[in-house]
Amino acid sequence: MYRTHTCGELRVAQKGTEVTLAGWVQTVRKLGTAITFVDLRDRYGITQLLMGEDLTKQLDENPLGREFVLQATGVVNERSNKNPNIPTGEIEITVTSFKILNKSAVPPFTIQDDTDGGDDLRMKYRFLDLRRNAVKKNLELRYAVNRAARNYLHQNNFMDIETPFLIKSTPEGARDFVVPSRMNAGQFYALPQSPQTFKQLLMVSGYDRYYQIVKCFRDEDLRADRQPEFTQIDCEMAFVEQEDILNMFEGMIKSIFKDVKGIDYTEKVQRMTWEDAMWNYGNDKPDIRFDMKVLNLKKPSTVYTDKQDNATLINGADFKVFDEAETVVAIAVPGCSEYSRKQTDELTEWVKRPQIGMKGLVFIKVNADGTYKSSVDKFYSEEKLKAIADAANAKAGDLILILAGAEERTRKAISDLRMEMATRLGLRKDTEFKLLWVLDFPLFEYDEEGNRWVARHHPFTSPKPTQIETMIYNNPVIENAAEYLKHPYANIKANAYDMVLNGNEIGGGSIRIFQRELQEKMFAALGMNEEEQLHKFGFLLGAFEYGAPPHGGIAFGFDRLCAILGGSESIRDFIAFPKNNSGRDVMLDAPATIDEKQFEELQIKLNLK
Ligand code: AMO
Repeated sequence: MYRTHTCGELRVAQKGTEVTLAGWVQTVRKLGTAITFVDLRDRYGITQLLMGEDLTKQLDENPLGREFVLQATGVVNERSNKNPNIPTGEIEITVTSFKILNKSAVPPFTIQDDTDGGDDLRMKYRFLDLRRNAVKKNLELRYAVNRAARNYLHQNNFMDIETPFLIKSTPEGARDFVVPSRMNAGQFYALPQSPQTFKQLLMVSGYDRYYQIVKCFRDEDLRADRQPEFTQIDCEMAFVEQEDILNMFEGMIKSIFKDVKGIDYTEKVQRMTWEDAMWNYGNDKPDIRFDMKVLNLKKPSTVYTDKQDNATLINGADFKVFDEAETVVAIAVPGCSEYSRKQTDELTEWVKRPQIGMKGLVFIKVNADGTYKSSVDKFYSEEKLKAIADAANAKAGDLILILAGAEERTRKAISDLRMEMATRLGLRKDTEFKLLWVLDFPLFEYDEEGNRWVARHHPFTSPKPTQIETMIYNNPVIENAAEYLKHPYANIKANAYDMVLNGNEIGGGSIRIFQRELQEKMFAALGMNEEEQLHKFGFLLGAFEYGAPPHGGIAFGFDRLCAILGGSESIRDFIAFPKNNSGRDVMLDAPATIDEKQFEELQIKLNLK
C-alpha cells in the first residue's frame, strides 16, 4: 500500500503516530528558507504537511507543483495554529521523507470549490473537475440515492434484472439513437428510450417485482434537466392496481429522503388530478411549496368541462383584450402592491418575451388601505376590481397579475409567471421538499403537425376502464384540426400518474394494457395499421396471448431526483461525465466521424446534406 491513512482521517488522538499519506498537492506555502507547508488532498479530505529545513532544501531543487502526486511519511503533531474549518485542522504531519509519485502539468483551472474555470473548460478537463469537492459531493449524494433506492426495493422483494441496450425502437416520445449492425448490413438497432416493453415482458414471465437503475437514451432537445443519456430507477409490478403502485413508490421516495437527507417525510403525499393541476396552476407539475393559485376568469367551452370559470367578473366591461381572448387567468402575488410603474413595466416586458409570448399584462394593486389601483381602471369600477380580487383570494398588499390569450399558451404563461414571482419572493427554498402525485392524465395528446393523436405517456398505458368504449368506438380521424379539443379522444383519461417534487417531474408511470385486443385498439387509435403493429410490436402482442398478468409500473428520473435533493437545477452536476447542451462530450470530442474502413464494413455511405 502506498499509504497508512487517508488525508481526511487523522486527528489529535493519533498524535505521535508515524503515518504515510498519498495524494495530490493542493497548495505549497514556503515560509522563509526553513519551512514549507503543503496541503495534501485526496477523496477524503486535506491534511497539512510540514517540511523542515532539509526537505525545504530538497524542494528548492525539485519544486512541487499544483496537483503533483505525492507520498509523504512523517509523524502526526498537534498544530499550534489550528484550522477550525476542516476536520483535520488540529493536526499536521511533520514529514521525515517524501516521494514525488508523479508530476502534473499546471491545471487549466484551480481545483477548488470556487474555481476560476468556465463551464466548457471544466467539461473538457472533467477528470480534473471531478477532483473538486463540490462535484465530489454531488457524486457521493448520487451514490447515496442509488443505495437507498436499492435497499428499499430489495427489502420489498424487487429483483434487479438487466435488459438489453441493442434493441428495436421503444416509443417514449423522443427520437431514437440508432446503431448500425455489421452482421446484418443495412439494419439498425435502436438504443432504448426506456426498458418499457422488456419490463412488461418480465411481468408476463412471472418476475412480478422488477427494478433496474438503468441508462436510457433519447435524441431530444436538451435542457438543464435533460440529457441524451440519462438514468432511470425503472420499476414494474404485477397483480397491482394504481393505489398499490402509488403507495409502494411513495414509500421508496420517503425512504430515500430519510436515508440520504435525514428527512422524515411523514405526511401523506398530496394527490391532484391532471385537470386540477392545469386548472389551479396552469401546469401538470405544479410547485406546491407555495400557494398563489390561478383564478380562471375565462376558458374556452370545450376544455375542462367540469370546471366553472368566473367570466361574469370580467364580462360586459367592453374591454376588448379580455372579450376577444380565449382564456383569461390571474394570480394574486403576495405583498407586491407597492410595485412601482417601472417594476410593472418590467414585468410586462417579461411576459412579452418570446419564451412567454404574451401580448401584455394587466394588473390590479390591492392597496394596504383597501383601495384598488389597476391598469384597466377605465373599464372596471372599484367594485368590480374588488370582486376580481376577492375571487383571487387577494389580501391587502397583493398585486394581481392577469394574462389573456390563447388557451394553452396563456395557461403556460401564467404558470411561468407564478414560478417567476415565487422565485423573486424567495418562496422556492431548495431546503424544503414537497412531493405531489398528479393523477388521471389524458390518454392521448394531439399532434398538430401530424394531425393525429399520439400517446400522452406511451402506447402501453391503459385508459380509465369506464372510457375504454369511447376509445374503441370512436374514429381517431380529426376533420377540422382547429377543433381537436372537441374530439371525444381529448377527454379520455388514463390510469397514468407522475410524481412531482418541487415543481419537477421526477417520475412517471401507468397501469398497463395487458389484453391483446385492447392493445391493438390502442395502436389503431394512434393510426397504426395491422401490418405496422405486427412489425413494430408483434413480440408484445404475441406475449399478451400467453397469460399476461395485470401490471403497472413507474420510472424515476434518477439524475433529476439527485439534482433536486442536492439543491441544483442542472442534472449535469450530478453526472460524472455529462454531455453539453449540443449533446457533445467535449472531453472525448464525441460524436466524431469514423474510419472509412468502418463505413465499408457496415456497408454505409454518407450522404451529408
Ligand atoms: P418517462 O418518459 O416519463 O417514463 O420517464 C421517466 C422519468 O425519467 C426522467 N426523464 C429524463 N431525465 C433526464 N433526461 C431526459 N432526457 C429525461 N427524460 C425523462 C423524468 C421522467 O419522469 N417507460 C416510462 C415509465 C413507465 O411508464 O413506467 C418512461 O420512461 O424524470
